[in-house]
Amino acid sequence: MSLNFSFRQIRLLLPMSMASSKGCACGTQCKSKDDEVDGETLKTLEAQYDALMKSNSKSLLRKYLTRRTFDKLKTKKTGSGSTLLDCIKSGLENHDSGVGVYAPDAEAYTVFGDLFDKIICHYHGFDRTQRHPNQDWGNIGCIGDLDPEMKYVASTRVRCGRSLAGYPFNPLLTEQQYLEMEKKCSTVLKSLPGEFQGEYYPLDGMTKDIQQQLIDDHFLFKEGDRFLQSANACRFWPKGRGIFHNADKTFLVWVNEEDHLRIISMQPGGNLGEVYTRFVNGVCEIGRKITFARSEKFGYLTFCPTNLGTAIRASVHIQLPKLASNKDELEKVAAQYSLQVRGTRGEHTEAEEGLYDISNKRRLGLTEFEAIKEMHDGIKALIDKEEKL
Ligand code: ADP
Ligand code: ARG
Repeated sequence: MSLNFSFRQIRLLLPMSMASSKGCACGTQCKSKDDEVDGETLKTLEAQYDALMKSNSKSLLRKYLTRRTFDKLKTKKTGSGSTLLDCIKSGLENHDSGVGVYAPDAEAYTVFGDLFDKIICHYHGFDRTQRHPNQDWGNIGCIGDLDPEMKYVASTRVRCGRSLAGYPFNPLLTEQQYLEMEKKCSTVLKSLPGEFQGEYYPLDGMTKDIQQQLIDDHFLFKEGDRFLQSANACRFWPKGRGIFHNADKTFLVWVNEEDHLRIISMQPGGNLGEVYTRFVNGVCEIGRKITFARSEKFGYLTFCPTNLGTAIRASVHIQLPKLASNKDELEKVAAQYSLQVRGTRGEHTEAEEGLYDISNKRRLGLTEFEAIKEMHDGIKALIDKEEKL
């Protein structure tokens, strides 16, 4: 077991009375040092904030972290000791971030709400006064095939993020917790019935060849994501990380990458109905054995604010040669249908041989069915436009 505990992790393990930073040994209510953001952190924040502001970063962090908000939040901490720096470190170190923030723990979404709320509103169109709707998978059977003639869509995928109730997000997890969560999840996954039956493959010990093949085939998360690394989300890697999949690799679960779990249904072709049906059934099977973290306001809780709510990203790998002859135009048209365009190997990659990953952008403030329908209708519209060009 690692003895590499940070101060805040030790606090998490202490009984509340000992961990409390209110009321100090002198018997007064004077503010204990533990409540204060230390000088080193403040210095780093100030220097890196200035650099971000001087940069031409297009991130939502740069857009919404005004000096006023920065000054208000820079001295705040969550109960587990997370600071503004923990939330924005990734965006400060990667000026090419699209968003630039992660929540080190669920409480950060409220303690640093002056920043998160604005970013969430921009990304999902979800106002701070709103509440995420109850889970609703909808009339699953009415979703059909996006491309019955198989002219445009190479493959279809639906995934969601899930966090295990009772565990913090990546930056606060201990090595022991990673291993404990992996054990818990892999045991549940290996007991799934029917079409979900499969095997769990830990990253620790996997050969580089097999790992690369899984990545190249779009089944496994990539290695060394600098946005996650800066957010302190890759500690103890590859310990506690891995992938589960059924025999056909149509149902897969990533363990402890960006989120505790990423549950995925995918297959070649455009039959979104089949992919969504398998997805819903698989998520429900897992949900019977594992309690997922959910909040009244934000729905399913995830490490990145872009994934809150339904945490669903439904995508196609699609070739639209005429529409995509001008990438800016493709992105503009996609945005009209609330769709997001990514490259062939996922986020932060380029399209190879004209193969784009196009998915629903919003995940929060709408039901599961609405998220899938938004993607369905948008992709249908793009195909329609392509045919008319
Ligand atoms: P996520 O979907 O989990 O947010 P990424 O954008 O990094 O993360 O994508 C993860 C992997 O899933 C990448 O290899 C990407 O190519 C693959 N992928 C996404 N959508 C599809 C799809 N419709 N068909 C095949 N692979 C896909
Ligand atoms: N932090 C990265 C950025 O700002 C990723 C944001 C959304 N994607 C994600 N995988 N959470 O570009």
